[in-house]
Amino acid sequence: MKQLTVKDLSAEEKLRLICSDGRWHTPDLGGKLPRVAVSDGPIGLRKENIYEDGRVETVPAISYPAVQSLANTWNAECARLMGEALADDCIENDVDILLAPGVNIKRDPLNGRNFEYFSEDPYLAGTLAKAYIEGLQSHNVGACLKHYYANNLEYNRLEQSSEVDERTLREIYLKPFEIACEAKPVSAMCAYNRINGVYASENTKGFRILREEFGFDGAMYSDWEAVRDRTAACKAGLDIEFPFNQANYDKLVEDFKAGRISEEEVDACAARVLELAYRIEAMRKKRKVQRTKEERHAVARRLAEEGIVLLKNEGVLPLKKEERVAVSGSFAAPERCSLVAGGGSSMVRVDGTVFDLPALLRERMRGEVRYEAAFWTTGIVSNCQKPHKAFMDAAESDVAIVCVGTGADLESEGGDRERLRLPSVQENMILEVARRNKRTVVVLFAGSAIDMGAWQDEVSAIVWAGFCGEAGAEALADILTGRVCPSGKLSETLPLCYEDTPVFGIYKDACVARYQEGLDVGYRYYDTYGIPVAFPFGHGLSYAQFDYSALKVKCSKNTVQVRVLVENTSKTDGKETVQLYIRPVQTFVYRPEKELKDFCKLALKAGEKKEAVFDLGEKAFAYWSTGVDGWRADDGLYEIVIGASSRDIRLTAKIRLEKGVFTLL
Ligand code: GLC
Repeated sequence: MKQLTVKDLSAEEKLRLICSDGRWHTPDLGGKLPRVAVSDGPIGLRKENIYEDGRVETVPAISYPAVQSLANTWNAECARLMGEALADDCIENDVDILLAPGVNIKRDPLNGRNFEYFSEDPYLAGTLAKAYIEGLQSHNVGACLKHYYANNLEYNRLEQSSEVDERTLREIYLKPFEIACEAKPVSAMCAYNRINGVYASENTKGFRILREEFGFDGAMYSDWEAVRDRTAACKAGLDIEFPFNQANYDKLVEDFKAGRISEEEVDACAARVLELAYRIEAMRKKRKVQRTKEERHAVARRLAEEGIVLLKNEGVLPLKKEERVAVSGSFAAPERCSLVAGGGSSMVRVDGTVFDLPALLRERMRGEVRYEAAFWTTGIVSNCQKPHKAFMDAAESDVAIVCVGTGADLESEGGDRERLRLPSVQENMILEVARRNKRTVVVLFAGSAIDMGAWQDEVSAIVWAGFCGEAGAEALADILTGRVCPSGKLSETLPLCYEDTPVFGIYKDACVARYQEGLDVGYRYYDTYGIPVAFPFGHGLSYAQFDYSALKVKCSKNTVQVRVLVENTSKTDGKETVQLYIRPVQTFVYRPEKELKDFCKLALKAGEKKEAVFDLGEKAFAYWSTGVDGWRADDGLYEIVIGASSRDIRLTAKIRLEKGVFTLL
């Protein structure tokens, strides 16, 4: 097919081209162009088949761990793997572009969509998103980086304005998009909300930054029904509106005819849609499914294994084979494993896969494994069945495992959570079981921070399962019984209570959310102000033990190389994520106490030693200066901080930066 340019199309064709075709396609202008098919979503393919009679059916697909769980792996290789496996799911279903990943920062732990996002930290979010995109596109399926930008609440998301200062935007909310653009996503999606009063769909400044500063060379779509004024959006640089909206299209044509939008302005957007169509056509020719469904399920299992976080363990895990175990809580064996997930456009239809932790434990344990659902949260109201049996089981067993969480009823697109705590019925269940068995393990299925204050001191172990996908039960069973050594670490802080968070009590009304906390998001806030937390950013225990030593810092003119030796001093093979933070010692602008600048996950056999090596350039020390409207690394003293978490600091070193030259002190 000859590649057309905007010169080959009439004005009417170009106006039509930038207004999509139905819900999930770009227009092919009567067969003149390749027609591009897009589909959700970040956690698994959610493709809608729309039939002639109007019926809509979602195709069944593999449910991978939620992006929040993926982030808890702290492993770019896992992110890449997820992208590759999702690409195969797309290829099998003729989907050209997956509407993923979302990289919005987890500013408020109550945000309903936090499970779809990576982290409170921009570097971790951007780095993993970049790998996810690379994975997808290496298998010739396009990615769509979303939701651009400062979309950090679901409350009134279609209208509300995020009021954010320039420096905070650059260092926190734009930074994940900047890093992820290095993977050259073929598309991006603007958010619903306004930023400082201007709709994201009409945000000329935002589109300019993405294209001219971040190097984005793809097509920009709207979020679904995010366009209020197609003419204003086109003028700003929004290339294509999804889904097709007749009224918007008619108004655009009317504005064009009235001269309120020029052909040049339409051409700018139409050209990028044409380029997308041909780019996808070329990718389509190279596509080949690389993994079988079984192999992709195995990928989902590996991601779940690496994303599960052991938060607390007072000698009760791993289980011993002959121990008798009492499992309770319906999250252990939900009727549909898609319930161990968040709700909304990312929800995957999972057919045929059974999520049954008790059954899998029975395969691995010699001791008796009892199970009693006892409760299930269906939103706030919970139906309690036979809790007394669950309590008796706990009293008569060596270990009690209580499976609790939120699920799609409490964490979903379109709304935010009311509270950080679990439903009372679940909290009471934990306390009642713990009263009867001191060796109680809580397994938490949630997509964002939970306030555990009511019960965390009463139990012996806490395992953060997250929304671990269809293979999560297998991964959990292996971790609980010690076949797999847990290696996940938190990608967001778990605060003691909502009142301790940096967003508590700051200005938010129906129209404006003021980001008064500025740079103080997540650990940047808690660590700077010394606020106690339940579990810190970057925290995760293992069945192995890791010793950090021999920190070496080599400064050359404008780079710093940091090496640290990590030894597995236990008898258990494991994996350890080493985190590198920068701590400015004295600066002439406000800077958070520390900022994550690199990380490295090492697989270490029992007794094995390996070096983590980090190469930092000047940008790792920089902040966004509104004095010069650019990145700037001030001369002065800095600390290199090596941690097993943001609060478990193992080694530090001081360096000086002077006129672009680093020297070790
Ligand atoms: C939704 C979501 C977006 C999704 C799109 C298509 O409203 O905000 O993430 O990709 O619409 O379902």
